[in-house]
Amino acid sequence: MRMAIISDIHSNFEALSRVLPELDQEEVDLILNLGDTVGYNASPNECLELLAAQPVWSLAGNHDLALLELERAEFFNIIAYQAIVWSRETVLPQHLDFFRNLPLTQAGEGFVACHGTPSSPDAYISFHFQGKRVLSTLRQQSDVRVCFFGHTHRRALWYRDVRGKVALHPIVPGKMSLDRTCHYLINPGSVGQPRDGNPQAAYAIYDHQEFSIQFKSVPYDIAAAQRRILAAGLPEYLAERLAQGI
Ligand SMILES: [Fe+2]
Repeated sequence: MRMAIISDIHSNFEALSRVLPELDQEEVDLILNLGDTVGYNASPNECLELLAAQPVWSLAGNHDLALLELERAEFFNIIAYQAIVWSRETVLPQHLDFFRNLPLTQAGEGFVACHGTPSSPDAYISFHFQGKRVLSTLRQQSDVRVCFFGHTHRRALWYRDVRGKVALHPIVPGKMSLDRTCHYLINPGSVGQPRDGNPQAAYAIYDHQEFSIQFKSVPYDIAAAQRRILAAGLPEYLAERLAQGI
């Protein structure tokens, strides 16, 4: 199976509409969307319509859950909070079932997928101790070698080798072969609000048979996404950060 892994679209229509045609060319069997389809940016309905036309497995992110239940945004920063309040007012009623039906995790051939970690959409895998903890639980599930996650908006490839060493693997251009004796945590980065300094829309292609991963990104019309944010009356900072990839 060949899969496209996308995450943290965050209502960025301009970014998503550039990524999806790229995925068509990749001839993937499935698109796995790791959640946070809404929040921050200004085109939630347009993004939901685009996704509905694709073979996508979508998961619940913390912003998706806050769309249904504002109490879940209690710990959001003020800008994220303002954006989710705006999203709640803007998402059309016909799209609410999409959010109600989102699972927290998905499992497939040799992998599990989640937004934050397999046990919580709010938890982060940013630091070594966090990666190590998730990799130890992953090892207890037979046949699962890979966990896909998002939430940090930063690409990452964590591994645990047979000796128990846990570390970040450098991400290089082109297809990267994975080692079948290792366990991995893979974050494709963010489609709609990348935070690793590269403002391009990020995604990844995973091939189960080859056991390989390729991290990719595509430029998109950031100025148009920024105009929509400002026209919607969302905080200006949300427009500024898109150009910087932060
Ligand atoms: Fe997010």
